[in-house]
Amino acid sequence: MDIAIIGAGNVGTALAGALRRAGHHVTISAKTKDHATHVAQATGTGSAGSNKDAIDGSDVVIFAVPETSFDDLVTELGEDLAGKVVVDVSNRPTPDASGTGTSAAEELQARLPDASVVKAFNTAFATRQADPNVGGVSADGYVAGDDDVAKEKVLRLVESIGFRPVDAGSLAVARTLEGMAWLNISRNMQGGTWQDAWVLLGPDSRS
Ligand SMILES: NC(=O)c1ccc[n+]([C@@H]2O[C@H](COP(=O)([O-])OP(=O)(O)OC[C@H]3O[C@@H](n4cnc5c(N)ncnc54)[C@H](OP(=O)(O)O)[C@@H]3O)[C@@H](O)[C@H]2O)c1
Repeated sequence: MDIAIIGAGNVGTALAGALRRAGHHVTISAKTKDHATHVAQATGTGSAGSNKDAIDGSDVVIFAVPETSFDDLVTELGEDLAGKVVVDVSNRPTPDASGTGTSAAEELQARLPDASVVKAFNTAFATRQADPNVGGVSADGYVAGDDDVAKEKVLRLVESIGFRPVDAGSLAVARTLEGMAWLNISRNMQGGTWQDAWVLLGPDSRS
């Protein structure tokens, strides 16, 4: 797949490397051009001098930026994202930081009505995104979205880098996924190694 990653931090770097190893064509951009160039060189991917150039020709655009940067990206790229799959990996600094009771993903979808927003990757730390295998067990890669075709595409993407793909349901389930991530974050803030990811266990969960 042709994938654009916007953001060259922890997540952008982890996903660029993992997606490249899985055989995808990846182009990365960042606010600071040099950061994208550096990550592209380190991961064997391509970089673009602007977000617009990065998404040109891509099937899937991963927003690997803080949620507080979504406003800028929507303003900058809004129309250019029409018809594309936009993957939201974000977690808020505190649960329900917006006070709306909704998720960052749903809010992004409302602002990008002509794109298909899919929530994915947010329940695993960047360390696990780089390598979702823990002692022979694949971490779960939860994917939520309202467009079934887009969601299927992201499920295959998640699987291609080693997660066990889990169709979590509609985009509203992003509220739960963001809560799950918050549990993971708050536990690790108490002195963790920031290497955790979720795995569902049980007779119906790993078929
Ligand atoms: N870190 C984790 O383990 C983890 C796990 C799951 C989900 N998440 C979520 O993933 C997202 C990224 O987290 P992170 O840890 O990778 O953050 P980070 O290390 O701070 O990196 C953020 C990146 O976003 C770029 N950026 C910000 N605004 C931009 C814009 N308008 N245009 C282009 N690039 C822009 C920054 O560019 P510059 O380099 O030029 O500053 C930077 O490369 C967040 O929403 C976070 O909640 C993080």
